[in-house]
Amino acid sequence: MSPFQVEWIWVLVMGTSVVLALITIVLIAVITSHKRLMNAKDEKLAIIEESQAKLRALSNELIQTQENERARISRELHDEIGQTLTAVNLNLEMINGEGDIKESDLSKWIDDCQKLVQKTLKNIHRFSHDLRPTVLDNLGLLPAIRTHVNGFKERTGITVEIEDEGEVHDLKDNLNTILYRVTQEALNNVLKHAEAHNVMITITRNENVIILRITDDGIGFDREKKMVSIPGNSGLGLPGMRERIQLVGGELSVSSKNGIGTTLMVEIPLNEG
Ligand SMILES: Nc1ncnc2c1ncn2[C@@H]1O[C@H](COP(=O)(O)OP(=O)(O)OP(=O)(O)O)[C@@H](O)[C@H]1O
Ligand SMILES: [Mg+2]
Repeated sequence: MSPFQVEWIWVLVMGTSVVLALITIVLIAVITSHKRLMNAKDEKLAIIEESQAKLRALSNELIQTQENERARISRELHDEIGQTLTAVNLNLEMINGEGDIKESDLSKWIDDCQKLVQKTLKNIHRFSHDLRPTVLDNLGLLPAIRTHVNGFKERTGITVEIEDEGEVHDLKDNLNTILYRVTQEALNNVLKHAEAHNVMITITRNENVIILRITDDGIGFDREKKMVSIPGNSGLGLPGMRERIQLVGGELSVSSKNGIGTTLMVEIPLNEG
């Protein structure tokens, strides 16, 4: 072979190697970016699946909560209102001459009927207020909270103070409902668990955010153990509250120490478009 031919073969081999190397680099780059794309896709899919699972669990919980609420309404209607009306009916039958009542005792029986009717009216009032306080729809959040707090103070003897700052009368309905239900549940918890004497409720609204803070001076609790959601059992308790608040982009924080008391703080951004 002439030196000229050797040089050409050498150039050919080198050229082919360079082309092969370039093709390999391009292939590796394509495969890597494809892999990255696939990984990103997998991650997105996993996030979507997780969100779907969360939504399914939440709607199951909502259905369960509705069912529990219906069971409670049916029990209360039966036990409280049904039984009192049955007693009124019996009294009226006696008065109507079906029983052996002395004329002098008549006013006592009528008196008894009146007391039973008054008790039923009170029950119906409390009952419909618990279900959906009309004052919340008609007058807004603050008057509804004040009305609820007044009833709570009367029933329990616990002192509750309310402080407000900023306009809270023009919030959207769903925010009114959430903040009202949180206050209701927080006060239920104070009564059930806290052994507190004093509660302070502050509602602050500025341009971008509404903050509701509820503090009690009770026995407090170990937060870590109690904030865990038990599937199908969260109702309107703390985990249920947190989920509802997160649905509107807000946050619930709980600080509590054994022996010192508990503070719930709800922050909801007001990004009204
Ligand atoms: N203000 C409080 N003071 C002391 N302990 C509290 C207070 N709030 C909540 N806890 C504790 O946290 C737990 C969880 O509260 P949560 O409201 O989730 O459930 P619950 O009140 O026990 O039941 P539910 O609200 O479903 O009827 C309570 O059982 C109680 O031990
Ligand atoms: Mg509770």
